[in-house]
Amino acid sequence: MQDPLVWASIPPWQQGSFAECVLLNGSDVSLKPKALSHVEAASIPYVAATAWSALVTTGGLHSENCSKKRILVHGASGGIGTFSIQLLKAWGGHVTATCFKDGLGLVKELGADDVIDCSTTDAASQLRTRQKFDLILDNVGGETDSWAMDLLKPWAGSKFVTLVSPLLRNTDSLGLVDGVLQSGMTLHDKAIRSLVNGVFYRWAFYVPDGVALDRIGQLVSSGKP
Ligand SMILES: NC(=O)c1ccc[n+]([C@@H]2O[C@H](COP(=O)([O-])OP(=O)(O)OC[C@H]3O[C@@H](n4cnc5c(N)ncnc54)[C@H](OP(=O)(O)O)[C@@H]3O)[C@@H](O)[C@H]2O)c1
Repeated sequence: MQDPLVWASIPPWQQGSFAECVLLNGSDVSLKPKALSHVEAASIPYVAATAWSALVTTGGLHSENCSKKRILVHGASGGIGTFSIQLLKAWGGHVTATCFKDGLGLVKELGADDVIDCSTTDAASQLRTRQKFDLILDNVGGETDSWAMDLLKPWAGSKFVTLVSPLLRNTDSLGLVDGVLQSGMTLHDKAIRSLVNGVFYRWAFYVPDGVALDRIGQLVSSGKP
């Protein structure tokens, strides 16, 4: 093992994913819930911190204000979606979830109140028959924002939060500076057009968050999510 003093002097971004030891800020670390094995616990931080970033940091939801809020989770059967359903239900939100046929059972079992099967029906037209939403979490991207913005309650602080932004694609294809500029213009354009219609448009990104993990650890220890 490397001398801890030498290892502590290496910045986190140079330590490498396969390093025997890595140096972390205390604020990025959380204790494993006792009820979980290491393997089970290891499945949580990335999806949990990403869902937290989207729903809480960007979307403004938390345990105290989520009750009775109507939330649409689009692409609900994957990692972020399944975690989000459980977190939102633990906080008393009303969750509508979209997924394909194979995911229906799982999404229902996790507690979604209303589940739309995107394999057989057009999600947009099905969702237009429902009451409008306070927040939409988009795990799918593509054309979603072209039909989903109208599903939000206008002039009520409602938000469309997508985890699927073109930032990485743009920086890969255009380089860092042009990619960020191009993405910034896209975000600005969509955010302004949404504001005119009384809703917010946001991109969300994974952010390491020890406080979020602590809160989630407490929920896991208490049996939810
Ligand atoms: N911004 C960030 O920092 C960040 C961080 C993490 C993840 N992400 C992105 O966030 C998205 C979600 O992540 P994830 O880990 O949950 O991915 P995932 O496990 O692949 O889940 C995506 C889910 O969406 C479903 N889906 C795809 N198209 C759909 C449609 N048209 N209608 C309904 N459901 C649909 C998929 O169903 P099937 O499996 O049946 O196809 C899948 O279950 C991904 O695009 C990922 O790249 C972004």
